Amino acid sequence: MTVMTKPEQSTARAVVTAQGLSPAATPKPDLISVEQAKALDVARITDLFKAHINPGQLHFMKLLGFHKIKIERAEGMFYIDQNGRKILDFFGGFGSLAFGHNHPRILDARLKFQEEKRQEIAIAFMSQYAAALAHNIAACSPGDLDMVFLGSSGSEAMEAAVKLAERAAGPKRPKIVYAENSFHGKTKGVLAITDGQLYRGEFKLMDNTARVPFGDIEAVERLFRADPEIGAIVLETIQGGGGIIQASADYWQKLRALCDQYGVLWVADEVQCGYGRSGRFYAFEHYGVVPDITALAKSLGGGKAAVGAMVAKRDVYMRAYGTPKTAMIHAQATFGGMGEACVTAIEALDVLYDEGLIDNAADTGAYLLERLQALQAKYPRIIKDVRGRGFMVGLEFHDFSQTLPMVLRPLVSVLDDKLKGSLSGFVGALLLRDYDVLVAFTEYNRNVIRLEPPLICQREHVDRFIDALDGLLSRGIVAIVKDFIKSQVK
Ligand SMILES: Cc1ncc(COP(=O)(O)O)c(C=O)c1O
Repeated sequence: MTVMTKPEQSTARAVVTAQGLSPAATPKPDLISVEQAKALDVARITDLFKAHINPGQLHFMKLLGFHKIKIERAEGMFYIDQNGRKILDFFGGFGSLAFGHNHPRILDARLKFQEEKRQEIAIAFMSQYAAALAHNIAACSPGDLDMVFLGSSGSEAMEAAVKLAERAAGPKRPKIVYAENSFHGKTKGVLAITDGQLYRGEFKLMDNTARVPFGDIEAVERLFRADPEIGAIVLETIQGGGGIIQASADYWQKLRALCDQYGVLWVADEVQCGYGRSGRFYAFEHYGVVPDITALAKSLGGGKAAVGAMVAKRDVYMRAYGTPKTAMIHAQATFGGMGEACVTAIEALDVLYDEGLIDNAADTGAYLLERLQALQAKYPRIIKDVRGRGFMVGLEFHDFSQTLPMVLRPLVSVLDDKLKGSLSGFVGALLLRDYDVLVAFTEYNRNVIRLEPPLICQREHVDRFIDALDGLLSRGIVAIVKDFIKSQVK
């Protein structure tokens, strides 16, 4: 495949102006229109992806078979491809599709907003939509988590959270604690508290940080006691990128007490585990504790808009930005609180409660876990662990060599580190190719498949997913490897 060069710009054009047709001084580049974009075929999309988006990523697309698929529509629990194939979505956009695809109430709210020609940008006049959304987020949040900063991604919400914590803690306490295997985003600030060597690359990151093992309260206490400069601790309540890792209720309760004792601010990253996914609106609610600052994103935009939010206790917020002199230090960016995005998020929150989706995540999520545990009992040599809460579930495979027949194990075990993620890849690719099921992978523990279906997921979808996984695993690992290799040469 060749990388395309830019075509010649078209010249001699006429444009329609208020005065009628007139010659255009500015040549129009060769642009793809909306309708042409919809009609692009897989080969052309691949060329454009390679030429303009991310050539290296195509390697993974090919391994997983994604390069053969063009999604034409998406509805509820399913993607529908160019051949009318319905793909069951157990990936859920890493937790950003609580309502499934194109929920009708959310679509209607957006259409109505457009028809009424309402204002979008919320930086000149106050926005009634941003005000209402901030109110609603505060209403869903326990304690005095009342102050809301609206942005357009999880990373932006986390940047806002870390900046707020640093300012509220004050210049004498600039240090921020984060956890091993954490993921808080890839923007330059929060990259310093994202614990992935791959992502941290060789960037120069802020160095006012300290790292602790996740879930180890003694390690936190030692650090707080030893270092009076620590002002904040940032933790995902359930680690997503780390492989769906939870800490005990005791850990969170002691953490709250330690933060109070040492005057350290606790920032709970709920970008992935929040918004009902764990079976409570915030995952920290399972433990009866409230952080000082938290962050939401992903499903907050109803699967249709880019919305992230930092939510803070009022006194913490006021300490940092409470006066006219400090108010603009970190006020919303250009796209924070955009009209249609806010209206989408307002309607989405309504649907979340009207359709009982948080309870469904708790109940149907427990059913998913139960059925996975039964599969683990059936395939103990392949499945090492299943864990999670609600619809945030991890399925961990054994190291590859351990899944093979006894005679092959010693030969392959030296390669286990290099082969991490290969079985997840084979299973993911074949679930898609042979069973029309989409699952997700995990940043740090590549032996883990992440299951984060939309919160509208019903038992029948769980049954279909389990039947697919059972059917695939029943082939045995050697056959799975052979089938995967065949899929690559076709
Ligand atoms: C826990 C957590 N925090 C922050 C982020 C960053 O969110 P975004 O990708 O919207 O910037 C993610 C994204 O996966 C996440 O899982």
